[in-house]
Formats: sequence, structure tokens, C-alpha cells
Amino acid sequence: MSWDPKIYMAFADERTRPAGELLSRVTNADPKRVADLGCGPGNSTGLLVARWPNADVEGIESSQEMIAGAKASGVKARWTLADVAHWSPSQRYDVIFSNATLQWLDDHRHLLPRLMGYIEDGGTFAFQMPRNFDAPSHVLMREVAASGPWSAKLRDVRKLNVGEPGFYFDILAEHTASLDIWETSYLQVMEGDDPVYRWVSATGLRPFAQALEGEEREAYLSEYRRRLREAYPKRADGKTLFPFQRIFIVAKK
Ligand SMILES: C[S@@+](CC[C@H](N)C(=O)[O-])C[C@H]1O[C@@H](n2cnc3c(N)ncnc32)[C@H](O)[C@@H]1O
Repeated sequence: MSWDPKIYMAFADERTRPAGELLSRVTNADPKRVADLGCGPGNSTGLLVARWPNADVEGIESSQEMIAGAKASGVKARWTLADVAHWSPSQRYDVIFSNATLQWLDDHRHLLPRLMGYIEDGGTFAFQMPRNFDAPSHVLMREVAASGPWSAKLRDVRKLNVGEPGFYFDILAEHTASLDIWETSYLQVMEGDDPVYRWVSATGLRPFAQALEGEEREAYLSEYRRRLREAYPKRADGKTLFPFQRIFIVAKK
């Protein structure tokens, strides 16, 4: 799947805020080696570099477009093109951080203990994922996908990988000295026309849009956009409310 750093960063504040809130719960004072998994255009990595200017901070990312954006961001980190699903570093890290990425990877039951294995004793694995897959934005994406002539092409384009908080406690408890898990629901106040459509166009809608072409693609997107407008109506003041739930996990070894 391809990404577009420019479209993604159109909502830079809303997308980066959870990274800051996650980072505020990481207590390591002077980590030497820090990784940002799925660093995107470097926005989350920038927070890590600002917090620990003396650390060796590495952004790891599977998208060529995103890592080009990260390199152009001016954030002083090392950048590595790699797929986290197969990532197997030769040295451990004091902090592994990941904001809004691990929802794209499956098999969390095996992935997360494996990533925990790359953490030094006393180090921290901290990650945040959206847990909004039952929100109208995602339900409608799937409903429209299942109800048109495109249904066969869209059937398996996106797996839902994110579990309940207790699922993560059960997976990680035996690998951690302490585990801090919480959820936040942000009431995002959006401006302009079709803001929810513009938001998902940069992320969750991409596997659906990229599986179709030409008129069929336009028809799918236009029906989805119409249904989104009903689900997220513009208010009298012109703003649109887009509630967004996220899960945060800070696992200390
Ligand atoms: C929603 S963006 C998050 C970017 C940034 N961390 C932030 O805080 O906004 C998700 C990023 O994860 C990357 N990604 C998705 N699957 C990945 C994988 N298997 N390995 C590495 N990066 C991946 C995508 O390319 C994308 O840049």
C-alpha cells in the first residue's frame, strides 16, 4: 500500500497529539537507543529527538514515500526502510515507540512479545493504536465495500487487528515488570467540507481505494463519501465532530 506524507500531515496536530500523550508516560530518563516503528514522515520521531537529544534515535518505516518525507523533515534521526513484520535488529533498544502503526500489522499475539524481546531490561515498549474500527467512518467503509459490484475485490483488503485492552494485558503481562494500558476518546473538531473523508483518505481508506480503478473506484468513493456526510453532519457553525478512540500501552521490562 502506498502512502502520501503530505495528505497524512494535513491533520498533523490531531495525528501527533497521541504520540505526545504516550511519550509523557515513558519514564526512561536517558535512553541510549530509541526506535520509532512506523515513523511515517518523522512527526512522532521529532518528539523522541526533542525529549532525548543525546540518544541514538532511529525511525523505521516500510513506505518509500513516508521515509522520503521523514528525511526531508529536518528531524535529526537515522532512517531505516524496513517492514516491522520482519524486523529483527541485532542490538536491543532502551525504548521502542510506535504511534498509530501496529494496527497495520497482524498476529499481535506473537508480534508484541517478539518486539518486547528487543527491549533492554528496564527499557520500555510504548505504542498507541486507533481502536475506532466500529465507528461509522470504518463501518461505512466496510458496508459500502460489501454492497456494490466491487465487493469481491474489496473483501479482504483490510484485516482488523486491534483487540480489547484485556487482550493486550494477557499477551504482555508475563513479559513486563509493569504495564500501563488506557484508552482515550478524542472529540476531534474538524473544519471544512468532508473532513472525515479527507482524514481517512490518508490512512484507513487507502487499501480500499487502491484496490479499485477508474469509474468503479470513483463510484465506491462517492457512495462512501455520501454516507459519511449523513453520519457526520456539519453543524450550524460549519464544524464537524469526529470522535476518535485510541488505545495506549506502555510496557516496561
Ligand atoms: C498512521 S502512520 C503513523 C506515522 C507516525 N508514527 C505518526 O505518529 O503519525 C502509519 C505508518 O506506519 C507505516 N507502516 C505500516 N505498516 C508498516 C510495517 N509493516 N512496517 C513499517 N512501517 C509500517 C506506514 O507506512 C505509515 O507511515
